[in-house]
Amino acid sequence: MPQNELVRVEHLTHRLRLTRKLFVPAVSDVSFGIRQGEILGIVGESGSGKSTVARCLMGILQPAAGRIWVEDIDITAARIPKADRQRLQRERQIIFQDSASSLNPRMSVRRILSEPLCIHGVARGKAERERQLVQNLGYVGLDAGILDARPSELSGGQRQRVSIARALLMEPKLLIADEPIASLDVSIQAQIVNLFRHLQREHGFTFLFIAHDLAMVEFLCDRVGVMTRGRLVELAPTRALYDHPLHPYTRALLASMPIPDPRIEREREIAVWREPESVAHREWTQVEPEHFVLLEQSHD
Ligand SMILES: Nc1ncnc2c1ncn2[C@@H]1O[C@H](COP(=O)(O)OP(=O)(O)OP(=O)(O)O)[C@@H](O)[C@H]1O
Ligand SMILES: [Mg+2]
Repeated sequence: MPQNELVRVEHLTHRLRLTRKLFVPAVSDVSFGIRQGEILGIVGESGSGKSTVARCLMGILQPAAGRIWVEDIDITAARIPKADRQRLQRERQIIFQDSASSLNPRMSVRRILSEPLCIHGVARGKAERERQLVQNLGYVGLDAGILDARPSELSGGQRQRVSIARALLMEPKLLIADEPIASLDVSIQAQIVNLFRHLQREHGFTFLFIAHDLAMVEFLCDRVGVMTRGRLVELAPTRALYDHPLHPYTRALLASMPIPDPRIEREREIAVWREPESVAHREWTQVEPEHFVLLEQSHD
């Protein structure tokens, strides 16, 4: 594993079982690393396998093949020592699009936020903990007044922000966010993305950001990976990817980004990419420094 990487994914493959004999490939032969302190974005159409990658990274899904390391821990190993598992629980956090639904309805917001801190021994005294809670609620634009509320008394957007605050409070080394803001109002989305950027610069955590919104990814991420049909087809520094997309799917995806000028928007044609019917050979190739693309050769 390269020294500056916190995460390494090698040949990750995952299939979803439909029936005893039927499988659908969800992720096929995906490899990439996430460097210490970088923000890596993953984009791609619905069903391209982004969440499956995130779930494998969190250890929620066991991949069918391939390996994943988080720091020096092989999380795909058959048995992970208890100390390593505890360390992962503390240092690795995920925010889902619908994290809000996982909040325990019987607990107050105060308890929801403070319990993980207590379990992992991160919190110091009670007063210090309360100060941390209020500070993190402030980060996500929530008032200390909701500490005594229960999830059912909050709006969906407020609940999602409580989940984001809960993940950030742990000061994770690795934060994975799977469409964390898709369910929020546009004005709050911008606030949360700014917050992610600010906190990431301040604390330097390593961040995997999965999103549909290409403009948001361009704004936030250092590098971006593009997935389609379970494969990673391109990976490059953000500027290089947005300025010189190479894979036809990436080009089609970026061409679908709305253009702010309505006159241009009305007149342009959207590129469409179709996967070659039969691929004879695939090769993950570095075309420029740090710019990788999956070259595909068809039979004809
Ligand atoms: N519970 C499930 N049962 C069957 N197939 C599933 C299930 N969940 C996902 N899939 C399939 O697995 C593949 C990858 O899905 P995944 O959720 O990883 O995609 P995604 O990129 O996260 O999509 P989205 O942008 O919609 O969140 C898709 O083909 C999807 O249809
Ligand atoms: Mg998803």
